[in-house]
Amino acid sequence: MRRRLSRPLVSGPSGRRLATIAVVALVAAGAACDDQIKYVPTFSTMTEQPSIEAYERAALTPPAGAVALGSERTYTLQEADTLSSPLGPEGIDLALGEENFQTFCSVCHGTDGRGRGPVVGPNRIPDIPTLNLHSDQASSYSDGYIWGMITNGRGLMPSYRRIPAAVRWQLVAFVRAFQAGLVEPGAETNPAGGTGDALSNAVGSTK
Ligand code: HEC
Repeated sequence: MRRRLSRPLVSGPSGRRLATIAVVALVAAGAACDDQIKYVPTFSTMTEQPSIEAYERAALTPPAGAVALGSERTYTLQEADTLSSPLGPEGIDLALGEENFQTFCSVCHGTDGRGRGPVVGPNRIPDIPTLNLHSDQASSYSDGYIWGMITNGRGLMPSYRRIPAAVRWQLVAFVRAFQAGLVEPGAETNPAGGTGDALSNAVGSTK
C-alpha cells in the first residue's frame, strides 16, 4: 500500500511559500540572462540604451581653443605679436636667459647674438642679416613677436616650442637686455639677476 503524504506538496501556507520562491528564482535567473530576456519586449534591459558604441560615429574633435592637460595653447606669429611678457621686473632672470640663449640660439645667432654661429656658413645656414639680433629690425619687434619666433620658428629658423613657455619669455628678456646694451651676450661678466628699472624698461620697449 502506497503511503499517502500527510500533506500535499504544494498547498497550504508552506507550499505557497515554496511556489513563490520558485517563481522569484526563475525570474531572477531569467533577468541575469540578459541575452535572452532582451528579446522579451516587456523587459527593458541595458542592451537598449542611447550610448554610442565603439566606431559607431567618428571621434569628436576637441572644441576650438581646447588645450590638453600638460600642454599649452598655440599662437600663430601674428597672434603672439599681441602678447606681452608675463614676467614682471622681479621675474626676469638674465642668467637663465643667457644660459638658454647660449644653449639653443648661439649655434646660429652666435654667442654674441650678432650671427655667424658655428652652423652658419657655406653649405650650412646661410649667413643672412636677420641672424643679427642686435639689428634695428630685430629690436623693432614686440616682445610677443620674438616669443612667437622662438615658439613657431620662421623661414629657416626651426621652432623652439620644446623650451617651456616661461623660459621662452626669459629668452625674450635676455634678447631685449642685449639689444638695449644692458648686457653683452657671451661675456662672462653678465649680472646673474635683473638689472632693475633699466631692464624692465627694455622689456616691452617696442610697440
Ligand atoms: C638653426 C638656426 C637657428 C637657431 C638655433 C635659432 N635661430 Fe633665430 N633665426 C634663424 C634664422 C635663419 C633666422 C632668419 C629667419 C627669417 O629671415 O625668416 C632667424 C631669425 C630670428 C629672429 C628674427 C630676426 C629678424 O631680424 O627678423 C629672432 C628674434 C630670432 N631668430 C631669435 C632666436 C632665438 C631667441 C633663438 C633661440 C631660442 C633662435 N633664434 C635660434 C636661425 C636660427
